[in-house]
Amino acid sequence: MTSLDFHKLCPLAYCLVLFIQLLSPPSCSAFASATSTTEAEALLKWKATFQNHTPPCFWTGISCNVVGSLKSVPSPNSSPLIFLTIGSAIGNLKPLVDLELSHNQLNGSIPTSLGQLTNLSTLYLGSNNLSGTIPKEIGNLKSLVDLELSYNQLIGSIPTSLGQLTNLSTLYLFRNNLSGTVPKAIKNLKSLVDLEFNNLFGTIPKEIGNLKSLVDLELSHNQLNGSIPTSLGQLTNISTLYLGSNNLSGTIPKEIGNLKSLVNLELSYN
Ligand SMILES: *[C@@H]1O[C@H](CO)[C@@H](O)[C@H](O)[C@H]1NC(C)=O
Ligand SMILES: *[C@@H]1O[C@H](CO)[C@@H](O)[C@H](O)[C@H]1NC(C)=O
Ligand SMILES: *[C@@H]1O[C@H](CO)[C@@H](O)[C@H](O)[C@H]1NC(C)=O
Ligand SMILES: *[C@@H]1O[C@H](CO)[C@@H](O)[C@H](O)[C@H]1NC(C)=O
Ligand SMILES: *[C@@H]1O[C@H](CO)[C@@H](O)[C@H](O)[C@H]1NC(C)=O
Ligand SMILES: *[C@@H]1O[C@H](CO)[C@@H](O)[C@H](O)[C@H]1NC(C)=O
Ligand SMILES: *[C@@H]1O[C@H](CO)[C@@H](O)[C@H](O)[C@H]1NC(C)=O
Ligand SMILES: *[C@@H]1O[C@H](CO)[C@@H](O)[C@H](O)[C@H]1NC(C)=O
Repeated sequence: MTSLDFHKLCPLAYCLVLFIQLLSPPSCSAFASATSTTEAEALLKWKATFQNHTPPCFWTGISCNVVGSLKSVPSPNSSPLIFLTIGSAIGNLKPLVDLELSHNQLNGSIPTSLGQLTNLSTLYLGSNNLSGTIPKEIGNLKSLVDLELSYNQLIGSIPTSLGQLTNLSTLYLFRNNLSGTVPKAIKNLKSLVDLEFNNLFGTIPKEIGNLKSLVDLELSHNQLNGSIPTSLGQLTNISTLYLGSNNLSGTIPKEIGNLKSLVNLELSYN
């Protein structure tokens, strides 16, 4: 039995429940041989980090019933569900497509091994208590479409490796403590860039004008300076443009007048 066969018979999330329960699954005959796979070991290691907590698939607000998906999104009024550090073993959960663990109390840093989850399409780790830097290995997640790391305590600069993510559509990094410049390398984003409430400095790269499909660009509450690039006039689908509370100077380019889809424009406090 190869590990590929195993995944056909036993979707990751289903097996996650089973591994955590440590029960022999009635409909998953591959279970016994599967325990030797690296995925199985990773799950067991991860389980060990839960210590006395209830296994995640049985928590209110968690869903493990979608193939390749691990989600925990507590309702706003419930208390956070997960109190732990993401171990480097998570890098062995290679079939994961969705990893959604926002609104918990994850702390410690984002492990570089996350860059091994190359099938990941959604990565939501927002509203936790993550610290340290954004690992450049996130640039290895070639299938990534949605990246949300907002409301944490991340520091350091935005890795230029994000420029390798050709399918990235949304990037939420707001409300961290990121510094450095807005990377020119972010050239593929299709829908939304929200970098508000950080400590980004330097100028707004004129290359942002190449993100033709962008609908929402939010760079407020940073320390960006220099002038507003005229290239922003090329963002013809943009509906929200927030550049307020920075240190921008110069004139408002007349090209902003080309933005026929614009609904929300904020340039105050500059
Ligand atoms: C990643 O996705 C591809 C295409 O769906 C699939 O063939 C491959 O087995 C997946 N890799 C893992 C490790 O699950
Ligand atoms: C994470 O939080 C736990 C519980 O509050 C604490 O014991 C641990 O030291 C924290 N770890 C880090 C890396 O901040
Ligand atoms: C986040 O971590 C900081 C220090 O590491 C701690 O003071 C704070 O209480 C934590 N916040 C939450 C919501 O756990
Ligand atoms: C990017 O998206 C396209 C269209 O959805 C898809 O065909 C392609 O496989 C994706 N590329 C990667 C690396 O996931
Ligand atoms: C953010 O960084 C600045 C300096 O870079 C520091 O003074 C401040 O305390 C940091 N804030 C948090 C919440 O870590
Ligand atoms: C702009 O939006 C329209 C309508 O949603 C869409 O058809 C078009 O492809 C978009 N243009 C770009 C450059 O993404
Ligand atoms: C922007 O600020 C940096 C320091 O962060 C400074 O070196 C640079 O000259 C400023 N540029 C403009 C155009 O004001
Ligand atoms: C904004 O720019 C002015 C003039 O260049 C400078 O004196 C000031 O310190 C800057 N403010 C911030 C918050 O960077």
